[in-house]
Amino acid sequence: MIQISTKDFPKLSYNKTGNGPVLVLLHGFPANADLWREIAPALSKHFTLICPDLPGSGESTFSGGDLSMELMAQSVSDILEHEGIDKVLIAGHSMGGYAALAFADMFPRKLSGLSLVHSTAYADSDEKKDGRRKSIDIIRNGGKEVFIKQMVPNLFAKGFKEIYPDVIEAQVKDGMKADINNIIAMQNAMKNRADRIGLFKNATFPVQWIIGKQDNLLPFDKALQQTYLANINFVSVYENTGHMCMLENAGALRKDIADFAYFCNNS
Ligand code: MLT
Repeated sequence: MIQISTKDFPKLSYNKTGNGPVLVLLHGFPANADLWREIAPALSKHFTLICPDLPGSGESTFSGGDLSMELMAQSVSDILEHEGIDKVLIAGHSMGGYAALAFADMFPRKLSGLSLVHSTAYADSDEKKDGRRKSIDIIRNGGKEVFIKQMVPNLFAKGFKEIYPDVIEAQVKDGMKADINNIIAMQNAMKNRADRIGLFKNATFPVQWIIGKQDNLLPFDKALQQTYLANINFVSVYENTGHMCMLENAGALRKDIADFAYFCNNS
């Protein structure tokens, strides 16, 4: 992995592979750049692929204070600046999608396309915010393991879980690596994130919506409601898929992101 240091981030870590138009993949929570392992090798045959560890995840750190989606977006901009890249397509998974939406808000001219993978532009509902507060209490009181072991399996569709328990096990193990303070910081950052539904009205970039029919975190109906909001929308709905299509349905995701990128880079 490449490591750089910038004003807000003592350590920013990212993988850079391949050649061609730039495609940035932002992982969700609790995960790191390795989340993209099933799709990265094939995509990097056609793209310059940048997969960061977002601040507070994997090897990347931030300088203290509150974590926010804006700070995560800034970390992506810092990496692009370091690489001398001025225009990108970003695909963000769930929390990575919230960060990608903040990037779209802050740096719209740097974006050639936005792919939201099991993600939403709505802010948390009051109920969801309450749930996060409760989770934070549990984690603070020594319940990190309980939290991760309950949360991670719930990200996958039932059928996938039954056939591939080892994949879920590996993801739990990866989630357990996250530091307690960083988990809390990310939960707070997601809880406090802005509603960005209004962003699509004037968006000059195309938007892709990747939806899992069995996503327990982002209900199908709620995900579908947003898919007409941009001027150009690409929509993919995956059957038998929960919140983790990069592991549950990697072939379809790889193809859909590549098709979308081809459109964004040639229109
Ligand atoms: C994620 O999958 O990135 C997060 O769990 C999403 C969320 O909690 O809103």
